[in-house]
Amino acid sequence: MYFNPSGHSPHLGFIMQINTITTQPYSDQNPGTSGLRKKVRVFQEKGYLENFVQSIFDSLDETAGKTLVLGGDGRYFNRQAIQTIIKMAAANGFSELIIGQGGLLSTPAASHIIRKCEAYGGLILSASHNPGGPDDDFGIKYNVGNGGPAPEKYTNAFYQRSLTIDSYRIAEMGDVDLDTIGSTQIDRLKITIIDPVSDYAELMQSIFDFNLLKQSIGSGYITLRFDAMHAITGPYAKRILVDMLGAPEESVINATPLEDFGGHHPDPNLAHAHELAELMFGPHAPIFGAASDGDGDRNMITGSQIFVTPSDSLAIMAANARLIPAYAKGLSGVARSMPTSQAVDRVAAAYKLPCFETPTGWKFFGNLLDAGKITLCGEESFGTGSDHVREKDGLWAVLFWLNLIARKRQPVADIVHEHWQKFGRDIYSRHDYEAVETEIANGIVEHLRNQLPTLPGQTFGEFTVKFADEFSYADPVDDSVSKNQGIRVGFTDGSRIVFRLSGTGTVGATLRIYLEKFEADPAKHDQDAQEALAELIKLAEQFCEVKKRTGRTAPNVIT
Ligand code: G6P
Ligand code: ZN
Repeated sequence: MYFNPSGHSPHLGFIMQINTITTQPYSDQNPGTSGLRKKVRVFQEKGYLENFVQSIFDSLDETAGKTLVLGGDGRYFNRQAIQTIIKMAAANGFSELIIGQGGLLSTPAASHIIRKCEAYGGLILSASHNPGGPDDDFGIKYNVGNGGPAPEKYTNAFYQRSLTIDSYRIAEMGDVDLDTIGSTQIDRLKITIIDPVSDYAELMQSIFDFNLLKQSIGSGYITLRFDAMHAITGPYAKRILVDMLGAPEESVINATPLEDFGGHHPDPNLAHAHELAELMFGPHAPIFGAASDGDGDRNMITGSQIFVTPSDSLAIMAANARLIPAYAKGLSGVARSMPTSQAVDRVAAAYKLPCFETPTGWKFFGNLLDAGKITLCGEESFGTGSDHVREKDGLWAVLFWLNLIARKRQPVADIVHEHWQKFGRDIYSRHDYEAVETEIANGIVEHLRNQLPTLPGQTFGEFTVKFADEFSYADPVDDSVSKNQGIRVGFTDGSRIVFRLSGTGTVGATLRIYLEKFEADPAKHDQDAQEALAELIKLAEQFCEVKKRTGRTAPNVIT
C-alpha cells in the first residue's frame, strides 16, 4: 500500500488527505448487459470495488467539479460500498454527491434524479433481480448524464482501464451519515442526502391521472396487490399507492427492503413472486396484481386469473397510450428488444408508428429516446418504460396499467382479450437453462452458428424457415454497430425461435430460448402457451441440443 507522502492532493486543494493506493488489476471486470455483477465475496476482495470505481472515474472525460448521483437497492454490501465510493469520489474531485437516504435509490428514481439535477452521471449499486446476501450477488453500474445506462463505448473503456489499473485514489475521511436528509460540506465536496421517493412520486403524478386513480381505488372498483419482494420498491409503493392514492395498507406486501430480500430472488415472475401468483389465480384475487424486482426497474403485470406477458404488456400500452395524460398526444415511435415478441410491431403497423428492434439491454433505447424517435419501449425480460426517464420503470408500468383499468373500466383479462381480438396473439415463452458450463454453452452457440447458412428454405413439420441469422444492430442515431446479439430463426408464418446467452448471470452461462407463434384466430387465443408452442420447443432442441449436451431434462425457469 502506497501512502501519498505529501498527504495532500495539491491540485484539488483539499484539506482532507487523499491517498493513492497501489493495486493489481483484475481480469474479469467486464460489465455485462447491465453493469458489473459478481458475488459479494468477489466485490469484497482487496481493491476489487475500488479498482472498478477508479476505472470508471479514469474513463470519464472529467470528474473535477462534477455532480454524481449515488444509491442502490439496499442489498447486502450496499452501505459499505457507498461509503467507499464517497471517499473515492471525494479524492477524484467531484464537487457534489447526491445520495438517496439510507443509500437507497431505485434504478428509475436514480435515472430521474440524474436528469432533474443535471448531474454528470450516477452510480447505481444493484444486481437487479439476482439474490442478495453475503453469499449472493452485488453489482455496480454507471449511468450517464441523460440518466441512462452507460453505452457500450463507456463500458468497454471501463473494462479496458480495469485491465491495466495500478492505483486508485481515496480520501481519508470518516463515514458519512447516510440517514439524515440534508447537505453537508466536507472540504470542497458537498454531500446531499435526499428523500429517495419524493422526486420520483412527483414525476409519476405528472404522468398519470392521480385523481381518477384515487376515485377508482376509493370507490372499490380497483382492488390491488403489489409485491415489493422485500426490495427497493417497498417505500415507493407505500408512498404512492397507499399514502397518495389511498389503497389499503395491505395492498403492498413484502414492503420492507431487506439486505437479502428475505432469502428470495427479487425477480418478478410467476415462479419467484409465488405469493402474489397464488392470490391472483385464487378465488379472492383483486382486479390487479403486480410485482417489481430488486432495484425497481422490472414489472410483472397480472389481473384476476391472468398473467400478462411483458411483450403483450408493451403492445397493450402502445395501443392505449392516448388514454394516459402524459401520452395523450400520441407516441413518436416504439421499440422492443430483438427477443421480445412482435406484438408491439402489430400495434405500430396499425397506428403507423415507427418501430425499432434493438439488442437486449436498456442502454440501446437511450439514443432513440434522446433523439425523440420513440416514446415507449420494452423488453420480454419484464421491462417497460418511456421517455420520462432513461431506465425501465417498474412502478411506472404499474401506474400505467392502473390508469388504463380506471379509464377503460375493464378488468385486466378483458383488456388483454380485446387486444388479441384486434391484433392477434403472439403466443410467447422463454426457456432458461442456467449455470451451463461455459464451454458447453459456447459449443451450443457455435453449433447453432454453423447451421445458419443451411436453414432458410427448410421445412420442419408445419414450419418453414424464412431466415436464420445472427442479430446485428446499427444504431440509427450514432451509427454504432453491435454484433453477435443473438441467433434468430424466423419462419414463414411469423413464428420465431431466438437463442441467446444471458449477459447478466454470475455463474457459468445461461442459455435463453425465446419462442413465439402468431395466432390470429380468436377461438385459439386461450391456449396454454407451452402447449401451443410445443412443436417450436421441440424444434429449438433439435437446433441447439441443450438437453443432449448438458444432460438436463428441462429448463430451470420458464417465463
Ligand atoms: C437487465 C437489463 C435488461 C435485459 C435483462 C436481461 O434487466 O437491464 O435490458 O433485458 O437484464 O438480460 P440478459 O442478458 O440476462 O438476457
Ligand atoms: Zn432490475
